[in-house]
Amino acid sequence: MAKAKHIRNIEVGGAITDFFVVRWFELRHHDGKPYLMLELGCSRGRIKATYWGEDANELASKITDGDILKIQGHGTDYKGQRWLKIERLRKAKKDEISYEKLLPRGRYSPKVLWTRLKKLIGTIKNPQMQELLHNIFETDREFAKKFATYPAAKLWHGAYTTGLMEHTLRVAKLCDVASTFYPDCRRELLITGALLHDIGKVDEITISGFFDYSPKGRLIGHIALGAIKVQNAIEKIKNFSPEIADEILHLILSHHGSGEMGSPVPPKTLEAMILHHSDMLDAQSEGIQHIIERDMPRGENFSEYIKILGRFIYLEGYRDGD
Ligand SMILES: [Fe+2]
Ligand SMILES: [Fe+2]
Repeated sequence: MAKAKHIRNIEVGGAITDFFVVRWFELRHHDGKPYLMLELGCSRGRIKATYWGEDANELASKITDGDILKIQGHGTDYKGQRWLKIERLRKAKKDEISYEKLLPRGRYSPKVLWTRLKKLIGTIKNPQMQELLHNIFETDREFAKKFATYPAAKLWHGAYTTGLMEHTLRVAKLCDVASTFYPDCRRELLITGALLHDIGKVDEITISGFFDYSPKGRLIGHIALGAIKVQNAIEKIKNFSPEIADEILHLILSHHGSGEMGSPVPPKTLEAMILHHSDMLDAQSEGIQHIIERDMPRGENFSEYIKILGRFIYLEGYRDGD
């Protein structure tokens, strides 16, 4: 059988030899015998794996999370899930492969996405909102680079490079359409909030090996981090309307919808309600889109169990007819 490339193409019984990133691993014991339990990732997915070699103990002290390994093994079935049984593994040499090749990638290049973002900013005519968006997105190079290449989340929706920018643009587009349905909706305020709603993720997420949350992200969270960043930017703009400032901050602070979901205030304006639902609509739809792409190659009618949604996703309807 030909060797599979990429995690999502591994079949039960099928062989694979490739480079993967260690997302996490543990040294475990079964009947007194040590073995390694790992979760591996590549640019197209992740998979649980076991290694039962005689040197498991020794390897455990040499490997760390985020390492790139060259692995030889084959797919197995464990309680209905695809796993990988590793036969041989070694650390990749420095010049063999780069992290960038192993990180999940989005559908568009950062360049294409920046053009779309700038076009959208160009539709905002209110001078204060325009200046705020310009100052945030176009003056801080380091921030702009991170915003264009960071994921929107660690594991669920948009967990790929450029995921944050793609999610932000989809949310802004959904808001743009929704703004035409409701006569009192203030479109420019809504689009400004949509473009800024997740900027705190640039400080919340880190890319070290794989995507993870930074200590700052775990302690403060992207909602508060985003609000602080916007507040600081507003303070640098002369005579910025305090009322507009409050409404923009409200959009950011309420976008998760409730206290249980991490928002200190629930949406209290028409624009905040539209933004919250647009954010949810995209996060959940993009999450399911990702499940379809990840699990379709397994050939089953339903996806693996999706803990965050508490259900399996039906896949059969997305398969091309033979
Ligand atoms: Fe968010
Ligand atoms: Fe979001």
